Amino acid sequence: MKKGHYFSGIFIAVFIAVHLLNQLVSLGGVPEHIKFMETVRLFYRNIFIETILLGAILFQIISGLKLFRTKIKTVDTPFEKIQVWSGLYLVVFFFFHISAVMTGRYLFHLDTNFYFGAAGINTFPFNLFFVPYYGLAILSFFGHIAAAHSKKMKSDFLNLGPQGQARAIIGLGILVTILIFCGMTDYFKGINIPEAYGVLIGK
Ligand code: HEM
Repeated sequence: MKKGHYFSGIFIAVFIAVHLLNQLVSLGGVPEHIKFMETVRLFYRNIFIETILLGAILFQIISGLKLFRTKIKTVDTPFEKIQVWSGLYLVVFFFFHISAVMTGRYLFHLDTNFYFGAAGINTFPFNLFFVPYYGLAILSFFGHIAAAHSKKMKSDFLNLGPQGQARAIIGLGILVTILIFCGMTDYFKGINIPEAYGVLIGK
């Protein structure tokens, strides 16, 4: 179970890394974000890869909850606590985020592109929910990897021990979170959401 969780975790992490890079590309403007998403969709939005991706995520959720139930009784160090709680948040986030994307795609027949994610982030009072919702997901992703890294890594890198490297990964996560919100809101000026996406924000 643990080994399976580790390897499907690596597969999912590759998708999430590309997906977060896609959100970062919004720093270059909305058309750039949409162009990048259309390119990477060629890899993950085909029935073969998407089925494997969603299957791996389902396995990650089930195995993750099992690991959470055993680990929560023995967690001690800060990174052990980060590992279990970031894992639990990712389980909840995956459930709601993927359900939302599939509802947007198949029920509302929306192109789940930039505006699908940006609608809630740029609209008050929805952003009171969506900013912490997405922010915690990005931080949990980096936190979960940092915690695993702090345990698996045995050697120094740039004079940093495994704990120092793990803290650097969390630092990178905080920077990426701020930059993604900067790009998704046009440098915090706010972005007009096309009428078609109004259904997502009660319009
Ligand atoms: C600001 C942060 C984020 C935004 C705005 C966002 C937005 C989106 C959008 C628009 C889609 C639909 C993509 C498409 O139709 O091709 C999507 C899909 C998805 N996102 Fe996110 N996402 C964010 C963060 C995350 C994070 C942190 C994770 C994982 C921890 C994640 C996991 C996924 C997954 C698994 C899919 C489904 C891919 C598919 O099957 O099409 N997302 N997201």
